[in-house]
Amino acid sequence: MTDRKATLSVGDKSIELPVYSGTIGPDVIDVRSLVQEGVFTYDPGFVSTAACESAITYIDGNQGVLLHRGYPINQLAENSDFLEVCYLLLNGELPTDAQLEEYKATIKNHSMLHDQMRNFFNGFRRDAHPMAIMCGVVGALSAFYHDQMDITNPKQREITGHRLIAKMPTIAAWCYKYSVGQPFMYPRNDLSYAENFLYMMFGTPCEEYKPNPILAKAMDKIFILHADHEQNASTSTVRLAGSTGANPYACIASGIAALWGPAHGGANEAVLDMLAEIGDESEIERFIEKAKDKNDPFRLMGFGHRVYKNFDPRAKVMRETAHEVLKELGMEDDPQLKIAQRLEQIALEDDYFVERKLYPNVDFYSGIILKAIGIPTSMFTVIFALSRTIGWFSHWNEMNSGANRIGRPRQLYTGHTERDYPKK
Ligand code: CMC
Repeated sequence: MTDRKATLSVGDKSIELPVYSGTIGPDVIDVRSLVQEGVFTYDPGFVSTAACESAITYIDGNQGVLLHRGYPINQLAENSDFLEVCYLLLNGELPTDAQLEEYKATIKNHSMLHDQMRNFFNGFRRDAHPMAIMCGVVGALSAFYHDQMDITNPKQREITGHRLIAKMPTIAAWCYKYSVGQPFMYPRNDLSYAENFLYMMFGTPCEEYKPNPILAKAMDKIFILHADHEQNASTSTVRLAGSTGANPYACIASGIAALWGPAHGGANEAVLDMLAEIGDESEIERFIEKAKDKNDPFRLMGFGHRVYKNFDPRAKVMRETAHEVLKELGMEDDPQLKIAQRLEQIALEDDYFVERKLYPNVDFYSGIILKAIGIPTSMFTVIFALSRTIGWFSHWNEMNSGANRIGRPRQLYTGHTERDYPKK
């Protein structure tokens, strides 16, 4: 596979390790043989560790590049729609018109939930967080489809992918409907994926609901921009759970759980909570100082990224969409959105943020758009999960299409050495 070697010296021992190159991006040093030498690599937070080989998504954080199967994210956001991006992520190539039509029809065929799933929703308290409901309900899909799930069978994996992509909008919208006490709306196959989601969220049996095309397009862009992001925390969680051969719906539920945290997918909700906490433009300076104070745990939510140290290419697209949506809804003067715009401006000019390359990330703008559309903050991460399901599934599918070994990290042990249990 390679002639190139890296040499590692440990004490007086010299260890040669193979070096591999991908199509683009940093080379990797294969450290798998180190265990036989009695040493492990140490990389908490997986900052320098490539945990797998993948051909789905490429990110260059320094250049602000995000490619899905080679296509730049801004081109996909501009020219494609979410279901086409799903097809691309999963299959590796853009579909022909006929393939896309067939794919969309198949997804529509799977959009209803098994009627017994209503009972799962009813088991939750009304004030349950929608992410808690989503985790539970998606995990519960494994109980409905477990028998038909041979993960070594590509056809069965494909059907699982169709079911997940099709049912996530229904599950997401029902999480919301349950929390507000409104009747569940069944999916409508005459609508596009994004329109149908807005319909199930905001429609009621009493009145006709017509999704606004500009808002549906913005929603579709949010789905596209969150569709995949390489080996992030939730995708790695899905891969790790999947490496054991676990049921795929359970694996996706584990990804949803990992996404929930405020350092990951929970950030868009945290952005709006932060804007509410700031409350008034006169308070912005004080909060900027809090964010800079190392003794204060407060951080500017929606700023910074582990990988993008130049700009987040998704944020560029989202920023434009945010302006379109605010204009369409006549909300340019909304006080909270004004705080957001001022915050963005100050942070982009302030030395602390500039030196640390802390730019607004995708969640900063997606939070603003979702709020303007009328989606409650508690649903923001649910929408991220809906969008990311295709990414999680594509990685799970890629992993199961080839040789797969159970994921099992090691550790630097700092606990007690062996000691005897005290005699009584
Ligand atoms: N506000 C204030 N200071 C910050 C922030 C922030 N949002 N983010 C990073 N810093 C500072 C941090 O204190 C550190 O300063 P110093 O070097 O003086 O100690 C420096 O910047 C580097 O931070 P880090 O914590 O080492 O960076 P990281 O790569 O471990 O963390 C992050 C990345 C996204 C978790 C972090 O920037 C953060 O907490 N941001 C806010 C939460 C957020 O918006 N998350 C969404 C990420 S995008 C969606 C997704 O992909 O899930």
